[in-house]
Parts: sequence; C-alpha cells; structure tokens
Amino acid sequence: MSELKVNLNNIMDFVSKEEINSLKSTIEESQLRLEQKTGKGNDFLGWLSLPTSITSTQISEIEKVAKDLREKSEVVVVIGIGGSYLGAKAVLEALGNSFSQLQDNGNPHVIFAGQNICEDYHSELLQLLNNKKYSIVVISKSGTTTEPAIAFRILKQHLENSVGKSEAASRIVAITDQSKGALRKLADAEGYRTFIIPDDVGGRYSVLTPVGLLPIAIAGFDIRKMVEGAAVAEEKTSSKVAFEANAACSYVAARNALYKRGKNVEIMVNYTPKLHYLTEWWKQLYGESEGKENKGIFPAGVDFTSDLHSMGQYIQEGERMIFETVISVEKPASKLIVPNDPENLDQLNFLSGKRYSEVNKMAELGTIVAHNDGGVPCISITIPELSPYWVGYLLYFFERACAISGYTLDVNPFDQPGVEAYKKNMFALLGKPGFEEQSKVLKKRLGI
Ligand code: PA5
Repeated sequence: MSELKVNLNNIMDFVSKEEINSLKSTIEESQLRLEQKTGKGNDFLGWLSLPTSITSTQISEIEKVAKDLREKSEVVVVIGIGGSYLGAKAVLEALGNSFSQLQDNGNPHVIFAGQNICEDYHSELLQLLNNKKYSIVVISKSGTTTEPAIAFRILKQHLENSVGKSEAASRIVAITDQSKGALRKLADAEGYRTFIIPDDVGGRYSVLTPVGLLPIAIAGFDIRKMVEGAAVAEEKTSSKVAFEANAACSYVAARNALYKRGKNVEIMVNYTPKLHYLTEWWKQLYGESEGKENKGIFPAGVDFTSDLHSMGQYIQEGERMIFETVISVEKPASKLIVPNDPENLDQLNFLSGKRYSEVNKMAELGTIVAHNDGGVPCISITIPELSPYWVGYLLYFFERACAISGYTLDVNPFDQPGVEAYKKNMFALLGKPGFEEQSKVLKKRLGI
C-alpha cells in the first residue's frame, strides 16, 4: 500500500541509532502534551484534529462559494501574507500545471496580493485587473496586518470603481476572526460573505481551514481528497502509532539528533519546481514555530537540480552545519522519454529511451551520496504522487512533526513574538499615532 516514507539511511554516518532513540521518551511526552493539550500554547491546538473534525457541510459551504466566484471571475485575487498566503500558494503550485498562468482551461487564474508591500507589484496587478472580470478573497486572522490591509484598501476601491459598490460586495469574500479585528468590522459593515478562522488555529497551521481550502477550491482542486489525505495523516502520526512506526516521530527524532550534533541548518530539497512553494510554506511553519529563545534549526530550501548549479558548491564544501531533507515524489503525472538521435552529435544517446524522471532520480541519488561524502546528512521523505490526497497528507505530516519538534525543543511552537519587532519600527517610521517617541529614537538611529 502507498504511504509516506521517512528513510534515515543517509544520516547514519553522522548520528548513531542510540542518539536517535535517546529522543524517544521526550518525543513521546511531546506527543502526549499535544494530544492532552497540556503543553505551551495549548489554546492553539485546533489544527490537530481539523482533518477529522471538519464536516461535509462545512466543505460544501466552501465549495459553494468557490463555485460562485469561479463563475463570476476570470481572475481571483487572494490577499494575505504568511500563514494567510503560503498554504494556498504551496498547494496551487504543487497541484497545478507549471504553465497555468498562460493557459485558459476553464479555471479562473488565482493570483496573490498583499504578500509584500512592493509598489511595482501592486501597480502592475492593478493594470492587469483593468481589463479583467475579477473577485477578491481577503484573508487575515488578526484583521489588522498592514500588508494585506493596504492591498485590500487599494483593490476594494479599484473593484468598486469598475463594477459599483454592490456588485463589488458580491465579489468579495473575507476570511477572518469571528468577532475581532478591523477586517471583521469592515466585512460586516459592507455585507461581505465571510468564513471564520477558528480562534484555536494559528496562521501557519491554517491551511486546512477556509484560509487554504477556499483558494484551492476556486482554482479547481479537490479539497475533499486533500482533507481525506490529511485525516489519514492525522491518524498515522498520532500517539496511537508507536514511535518506531510513526513517520512524524522518525523525522522529529532524526532532525533533533542532527541538531544536537551541531547541524543547525536544515535545507529542504525538492526535485520538482512544483514543490518550491511547499518549501516556502514549510520554512514559515518551522521557522516561526521553532526559532525562539535563541534556539531552533534554521529552515532553508533549494530546488534541485537548478540550485545544484548555484548552492551546490556551498552544500558540498562550505561550513559543515547543514543537513538536508529531501522530498521525493515517486510517480510523475506525465511521461516524457529522451529520444534517440542517430547522429548523436550531443553524445546523449546513453540516455535514449530513458524517462526524464529516471534521469532526475539518478541525479537525486548521486547527489545524496556526494553530499554525504561532503559531510551532509540527508533525511529522505517520499510520497507516492503529487495529488490532492498526498499533498493534504504531507501538509498535516509536517504540521504534526513541527509541533512535536517544538515541544521536544521546549519552546511554544504556536506563538511568534519576534514578528512584532519590525512592525513596531515600521509603524513608528510611518507616523502611526501612539508611536511618536519610538519614531524620534529610530530616526536618530537611522540618521533620517
Ligand atoms: O503564522 C502566523 O501566525 C503568521 O505568519 C500570520 O499568518 C501572518 O502574520 C498573517 O497574519 P494575519 O492572518 O493575522 O494577517
């Protein structure tokens, strides 16, 4: 039967079995603290049972709104940042055609805004939307985050100016807190359709709520299958499955054993560009969950083989503080064979008749051995295919492992106090009322 596999063979030259197994009891305790809700941040554990607790009626509600926006729009702009952006982006890239933005296949183009504050990005977006029939999904749990709030203000006005206030209201959906925040007030005042982000689900753990599921359904993907995969992952990563047979525990044990050995940087490696944004999502999940109290493995990412031609040199021979986690997809969706060429001027006939994926696989295996030889341990995680079911499975697997790992490190994996520092400075520099003193200090420090 197909399953997600974690293979630790290529870390065994760097840590012993005993070092990995010595983490067993801490990891088992972390699992129990999660399930019994007795650990740090225990008011943010709603995501833990989301896949098995979301009802068919709730999914139908998401599908209904998605269908309506699909019918109304050539383009749907999803506004959000961090956990209110990366999950949907990761899934759309993983499941979509690599060239979907240049295709008309009956699905609206789902594009993103408010994930940066770049003037050119948002100006170019407005120019694009001038000639398009479009809708907006605005996502912010707090309802007060500056980046999406500015983007929404601009896009809301643009849409209202082009189709009128009442039609615009029918094309805007807000996903936010049940009662708190500026976005909630605005949505209620304007009469937008809304979905609620549960109080006990933090941004980076929210992909299986409407935050991720609505944009994914709008793009035409099967969110029921995604949730089905995540529900199986929920069962298979729970404490009911023993440490030795539990893939999430193996991953947590391996990365923490390597961390104890001074491997402070984990590079997530993929061999398909479709997983680029899944890596971005994973970086946010692990970086924000573990990077605190001067602790935590630094999460980085590369897309191979592209980045073997940029980062490959460093990984092979630079500072030896890194390990890799390689995500492999067993079965590609398409089949492409290297053709024979009787003239063989490019001298590639040794590859004739081989599938592209076989060439890719040999690059992967050869790289793992080379990196091992260069002092880089490699954890391998394999999923059978890039389908809604397996992407849903993988997302939950990483969420669960992240929470267990955070507890194993003895940090609160559900808060992000460090993110506030830049926001305060930005507000002070922009003259937000209440930040006058800080503004003076900062301007002096910056010499402006
Ligand atoms: O994981 C998190 O909590 C953060 O990354 C948030 O998702 C991000 O800051 C956006 O917050 P909000 O949804 O409140 O706008």
